[in-house]
Amino acid sequence: MYTVPKLDDYSPAALDRAVADLFGALDAEIAALHSESDWKEFRDRWMARKNGVLTQVNDTWLKAAPKDAKRDVGQRVNELKARAEAAIDAAHEKIHASSAVTKLASERLDITLPGIRRPIGVKHPVLRVQDEIVAVFKAMGYSVGEGPEVETDYYNFESLNFPPNHPARDTQDTLFIAGQEQKAARDRLLLRTHTSPVQIRSMEKLAPPVRIVIPGKVHRNDPLDATHSPVFHQVEGLAVDTNITFSDLKGTLDHAMKSLFGSSVKTRFYPSFFPFTEPSADMQVSCIFCGGKGCRKCKFSGWIELLGCGMVDPNVFEFVKQNGYDSSKIAGFAFGMGVERIAILKYGVEEIQLFYEGDVRFLEQFA
Ligand code: DAH
Repeated sequence: MYTVPKLDDYSPAALDRAVADLFGALDAEIAALHSESDWKEFRDRWMARKNGVLTQVNDTWLKAAPKDAKRDVGQRVNELKARAEAAIDAAHEKIHASSAVTKLASERLDITLPGIRRPIGVKHPVLRVQDEIVAVFKAMGYSVGEGPEVETDYYNFESLNFPPNHPARDTQDTLFIAGQEQKAARDRLLLRTHTSPVQIRSMEKLAPPVRIVIPGKVHRNDPLDATHSPVFHQVEGLAVDTNITFSDLKGTLDHAMKSLFGSSVKTRFYPSFFPFTEPSADMQVSCIFCGGKGCRKCKFSGWIELLGCGMVDPNVFEFVKQNGYDSSKIAGFAFGMGVERIAILKYGVEEIQLFYEGDVRFLEQFA
């Protein structure tokens, strides 16, 4: 901190040096001021009447000056005082302004910040594939239908030509609703094991011709493993008209598979059995992963089994005969496919459970 030196040399050069030293010190102190209270302390030290630096200058320099130097020193001290006071005032203004700026800055409310963005979800991959399948058939003129998940034995089995106690029922491990023993067998409730019951429901409502796809959830008493889930999704299809043949079925499904998997995919039809179709077939697609060369995924056969289909069995039409389904005049084909199975193939998913766990790390890959 600056203290006023005693002067022995009152020559103009020595006075110039002393004044320059004083302002050097003054400027350094001003530069170190940060707050209003710093400034007040500083001002008092320099300007206090009693013993302030400027008073000391007066006492130490002017009063002690030899007679012949008094005039010059007096003038210099007056100038010095005026200059120092002006600098001290200016410092005050600067401190004041910058503390106002700091205050404003600390109170600043940045309304330009974005709000908290909640990521918008995307369609679940199963639903997405289901919608894609439906869209492929819609483009071919199919309408879309739905039916109940809690179904009667009649629609799930009997009207689809699974007679009571027929062994074909055992292929679909069914979850029955408890406590219905007093009801007639056909009225007993169960969780539908496939979307096929909506075939009959649709034909009861709509006279031929019909072309309809039916997406929905189905339930089976299957333990969960890499490829099976007790709850899964199917898309059912039904086309009934005059002159429908097996080649219509083949052409329709071949087109659908090319739409879903790309135009290079091939299809083939293998004999199979379903009570509600005759003849029945399993449709296979050329392996999505190896293009048909043979790999682990297709068990080195080059083909992957994808869905069941066939020509609607005349016994099925018997149940809706009164609505115009006379098997001597009309014919139809039907098919049913598992949505998860198609999603697994399309996206190369290793385990069906991933679809149901709701793990965002899995799901966001479909965003
Ligand atoms: N409902 C059958 C199942 O879940 C799949 C099926 C096969 C549906 C043949 C059909 C069909 O419409 O014609 O295994």
